[in-house]
Amino acid sequence: MRVVLLGPPGAGKGTQARMLEKRLKVPQVASGDLLRAGVRSRTALGVEAKRYMDKGALVPDELVLKLIEERLKQPDAAAGFILDGFPRTVAQAETLTAMLTGDGHGPPYLDKVIAIIVPDDEIVKRISGRRTCKNCGAMYHLIYDPPRNHNLCNSCNGELYQRDDDAEDTVRMRLEVFAATMRPLFEYYGRAGLLSQIDGIGRPEEIQQRIVEALGDADATPKAPRG
Ligand code: AP5
Repeated sequence: MRVVLLGPPGAGKGTQARMLEKRLKVPQVASGDLLRAGVRSRTALGVEAKRYMDKGALVPDELVLKLIEERLKQPDAAAGFILDGFPRTVAQAETLTAMLTGDGHGPPYLDKVIAIIVPDDEIVKRISGRRTCKNCGAMYHLIYDPPRNHNLCNSCNGELYQRDDDAEDTVRMRLEVFAATMRPLFEYYGRAGLLSQIDGIGRPEEIQQRIVEALGDADATPKAPRG
C-alpha cells in the first residue's frame, strides 16, 4: 500500500499515520519528523530547514525532496509507505510521481491520497494541547488524550514537550500556507482519480475507520499521472 495523507496542520495526519502503520504493516514517512530529526542532530540540512520551520513557512522543495527520496529507498519502504505531510506542493507531488513511476514497481504509483478535513477552530484546539514525547515521539493531547502522569510519556516515561512551531503566530502562518498551497495539490490528485476527502472530526478510531473505508475503494486500476 502506498498512501498519502494530506490535511492542515493539526488535522491528525500523524495520529492516523501511526494507527495505519500498525494496520497496513508499512512505515509512516513523515516529512516533518525527518526535518525535526535533522534539526535535532544539527545537520546542514536541519540548520537550513529550521529557519523556515520556525516561521511556519514551507521548507524549500529541494531540501525536503532529498530527505524523502533517501527515506523511500530504505528497505522497509519497499512494500509500501504512508506519507504524512508530503507532498505539500505540486512540484513535490510531480517529483514523487516521477520517483514512483521510475522505480520499476509499475502502476498504480499510489493507491490513495486521503485528505483529512478539519475546520480551523478545531485545529487551534488540537495544536495548542498537543504534547510529544522527547524520547519515543508518542503523541498526547492535554484534553483529548492526556498522559497518565503529568508531562511524562505513558510508554517510556520520557518528558513531554510542545513543538516550537506550535506557538500561536506560527500556527496562524502554517494555516495560511496550507490554505494557499493545498487547492492545486488537491486538484492534481483529483485529476489522477486518487483523492478522497474525509471528515476529520470525531474520535481518532472513527476517523481511522473512514480512512480504511476510503482505502477499500482503492482499486488496482493503473492510473496515469496527469499534470
Ligand atoms: P509537519 O510536522 O508536517 O506539521 P503539520 O503538517 O503542520 O502537521 P502537524 O504535525 O502539526 O499535525 P498532524 O496533522 O500530524 O496532527 P497530529 O496527529 O499531530 O510540518 C512542520 C513544518 O515542517 C512545516 O510547517 C514546514 O515548515 C516543514 N515541512 C514539513 N513537511 C514539509 C514539506 N513536505 N514541504 C515543505 N516543508 C515541510 O494531531 C494534533 C493533535 O491533535 C495531537 O495532540 C493529537 O493527539 C490530537 N488529535 C489527533 N486526532 C484527534 C482527534 N480525532 N480528536 C481530537 N484530538 C486529536
